Amino acid sequence: MPSPSKKFFVFVTRRFADSGIKALQKAGHRVEIYEKDENIPRTELLKRVKGCDALLPLLTDRIDAEVFEAAGPQLKIIANYAVGFDNVDLVEARKRGIVVTNTPSDAVNESVAEHAFALLLALAHRISEADQFAKAGKYTGWSPTQFIGTDVRGKTLGLIGAGRIGSMMAKKAVQGFDMKLVYADAHENLLLERDYGAARLPITKLLQQSDYVSLHVPLLPSTRHLISTAEFSSMKKTAFLINTSRGPVVDEKALLRALKTKRIAGAALDVFECEPAIDCDLTDTLELRTFLNVILTPHIASATIEAREAMSMVAAQNILAIFEGKPALTPAK
Ligand code: DGY
Repeated sequence: MPSPSKKFFVFVTRRFADSGIKALQKAGHRVEIYEKDENIPRTELLKRVKGCDALLPLLTDRIDAEVFEAAGPQLKIIANYAVGFDNVDLVEARKRGIVVTNTPSDAVNESVAEHAFALLLALAHRISEADQFAKAGKYTGWSPTQFIGTDVRGKTLGLIGAGRIGSMMAKKAVQGFDMKLVYADAHENLLLERDYGAARLPITKLLQQSDYVSLHVPLLPSTRHLISTAEFSSMKKTAFLINTSRGPVVDEKALLRALKTKRIAGAALDVFECEPAIDCDLTDTLELRTFLNVILTPHIASATIEAREAMSMVAAQNILAIFEGKPALTPAK
């Protein structure tokens, strides 16, 4: 067990909200941050981790056996600066006794849930399309038939994944907009059922009933392409898909087909299957971008001041706990 007064070396792969960095420095630890305003190149990462006791990477840094080797056997913790941790090889970390943590907190969950709800409202009221229209100088006079959308009130929201973020989305939907709620999750969420009258359904049934489907699952082998051709076929033709989880949860090719054939009414995506590319198949001429009923945001669902600071503090608190020989606050699991 490390002595509480021992000073350690923390390597941070990119500068971000600095409350956590300050906490680590205040505790007397040496914190090195990759200096450039870019995601750290792989070769640089492998060089710079040498000798670190804690590594604080971004979700864009692949953390695997090669990184663990490059760091050395003293490496104790990977404090991933994200709620998701599909960029970290958990099996390899466990084998080496390295703790992996993520950064869930009310602030992050709130930010993602708000963003998902903002996308839902923007789809319903055709905000993005109308914005482009007005900015292009095409508004020449009021018309009763222009940009007809749909009300959200009374519609059914289907949550796939009813954990912390899904539950916050549920609250907004039911208390703020009188929506009906259905959810699909490996676990029962009794609070959601009691407080918001939510019904737990198998995914196919949920897709058949929902007007809006919002995804809140982690990326796991079992959730890769969870939404593919069969699932789009189960959705209502008037329904919308919202994805603020991880890109590969949706089979993007199947989504393109569903949009082209008008199998669904539209989609809003904050994450992409081959991120940062918007379309996996670059020869496919960036088709997702061409649909007016598709809203794209560049993985910013947790990009609020409140969320970023909270993520910074949670990452630091996890590192400090491990340095003090205590259990991690938010182990990745
Ligand atoms: C997360 O936390 O996993 C988000 O996707 C990035 O901030």
